[in-house]
Amino acid sequence: MQDETYIGAIDQGTTGTRFMVFDHGGRVVANAYETHEQIYPEPGWVEHDPVEIWENTKTVVTRALAEAGLEADQLAALGITNQRETTLLWDAETGHPVHNAIVWQDRRTTDRVEELQEAGMAGTIREKTGLEVDAYFSATKAEWLLDNADPIKLQRARPEDVRDRAEAGEIRFGTIDAWLIDKLTGNHVTDVTNASRTMLYNIHDMEWDEELLSEFGVPAATLPEVRPSSDADYYGHTDPNGFLDAEIPVAGALGDQQAALFGQTCFDAGTAKNTYGTGSFFLMNTGDEPVESDHGLLTTVGFQRSGEPVQYALEGAIFITGAAIQWLEDIELIDNPAETETLARSVDSTDGVYLVPAFTGLGAPHWDGRARGTVVGLTRGTRKEHLVRATLESIAYQTRDVAEAMEADSGIEMGTLRVDGGAVKNNFLCQLQSDIVGTDIVRPEVDETTALGAAYAAGLAVGYWETVDELRDNWQIDREFTPEMAAAEADGLHARWMDAVDCSRGWATD
Ligand code: G3P
Repeated sequence: MQDETYIGAIDQGTTGTRFMVFDHGGRVVANAYETHEQIYPEPGWVEHDPVEIWENTKTVVTRALAEAGLEADQLAALGITNQRETTLLWDAETGHPVHNAIVWQDRRTTDRVEELQEAGMAGTIREKTGLEVDAYFSATKAEWLLDNADPIKLQRARPEDVRDRAEAGEIRFGTIDAWLIDKLTGNHVTDVTNASRTMLYNIHDMEWDEELLSEFGVPAATLPEVRPSSDADYYGHTDPNGFLDAEIPVAGALGDQQAALFGQTCFDAGTAKNTYGTGSFFLMNTGDEPVESDHGLLTTVGFQRSGEPVQYALEGAIFITGAAIQWLEDIELIDNPAETETLARSVDSTDGVYLVPAFTGLGAPHWDGRARGTVVGLTRGTRKEHLVRATLESIAYQTRDVAEAMEADSGIEMGTLRVDGGAVKNNFLCQLQSDIVGTDIVRPEVDETTALGAAYAAGLAVGYWETVDELRDNWQIDREFTPEMAAAEADGLHARWMDAVDCSRGWATD
C-alpha cells in the first residue's frame, strides 16, 4: 500500500467522530471511530466539549492510519463533514473555546424564536436563508453564547465581556467544520453548505446577511470566510510539525447531510437521498435554482464546486429517528438496535399503538418546538414488541410526511429514494419504508456515504478524481426494496399517524 495515495475524510457527527480513508474506487481502506460525551446541563439543553471533539479527531485519524499501515503523506487530501448547526465561539489567539458548543438539538432559545415569530420576522428569515425560524439553527445559539458565555473560561485575564472581544475580532464564530479547519490549518473558513445552516447567511446573494447579523448581534469580525464545498484553492494545509507530521491539503467540507447527498452521487436535479442517523435528513437536489417551500421544508445549499454555480436542495429535517431506537436501549426495552428487527417482525402490527418521537420538538414538516414524545393507543395487551414496532414505524411515517411535502413543493414524483446511515442495515425498516412511502428504496453498497461525500469533495478539488462520472461509476446497489403493501392500507396507517402527531403538539410549557 506504500505507493498508493488515498483521500481521508473526517466525519464529525452528533454522537461521535469517524475517520475514513478511501481509494479511487470509493472503497474504504481505513476506519476508526470514537464517541464523545453528550452534556445535558438542563432539560432540553445539549452541549458538546469542542476540545474533546478535537482530541478525538486526532485520535481517530492517527489510529485509522496506523491500523491500515498507511503514512499520512499517502493522503492526497483531507475532507471534512460535520454535524450541522452546532455552534461555538473560540478565542482567535489561544484557540480555546469560550464555552461548550451548543448542539443542533438544543432547545434553550425557544423563547427567543417565539419572540421572532411574534415580531413577524419569520417571513424575512425564510426569504433570505431558506430556513424555518427555529432554535435548531445557529443564529439564536450564537446570540445566546455572546450574551452568556463566561469570559473566565477564555482563560485570559481580560476585563471585557465576550461581546466586546467579539466586536474587536478577538473571538471566532463557527460551526464544527470551521472549528476543525481552524485546528487543522489555522485558517478561519467555513463552506457554503454549513454557512447556509446558520440562519445568518443569505442563500440568494451568497453572503452573510447584515440585517440578520444585526438582529442577532453577531459581529461581522467573528465570521469565517465562506468557500466552496470542494475548493481547488484549498482551505489550507495541515501543519507539517503538527500531529500528522505532514502537509496535506484540506480541500473539501460539507455539512453531513449535504455530504451524504454528494456521496450518494445525487448530482442531478430531482435525485434524492434519506440518511437515517440520530435524526433523518431527506434531501433532494433541485439544481442551480433554490426552490421555495410551501410545505414546511427547508431550502438549503446542496453543494458548490469551485468555479461552478451553487447547487441547491430541498430538505426535510426530521429531528429524531435513530435516536428513538437509542432511547429504547436507554430505557432497557431492548439490549441492542439489531434486536428491533426480530422484535418488530414477531407481531403483525402495533395493535393500534403509535409512538411520536418528538423528544426535541418536531422538525419538518410540522415545526413545533413545544411538541414532546407521545405514545397513544396503549391497551393492557400492549407488549414491548408493539412499542418497538411502533418506534420503527414512526421512522417510516416521518419520512412519508417529508416525501409528500417534497413532491408537493418540487412537483417531481419520486421514483426511487437512496438511503444510508446506521438504521438502513435493518431490512424490516427498509421494506416498511418502501411500503409506507410507496416508492422504491435503494440501499448502496458503501453505507458510509457521509464520509465518502466529504472525500469526493476533497478528491475532486485536488484532481484525485477528474470528473463526477468516475464517482457515479463507483456507486453500486446493495439491495432494492419495492412496495408490497396496498396503497390504501398505507394511507390508512399514515392517517392515524397524523392524529398521533396532533396529540404530541404544544406539550412543553417551559
Ligand atoms: O442537522 C443536524 C445533522 O447534521 C446531524 O446529523 O448524523 O450527526 O445526527 P448527525
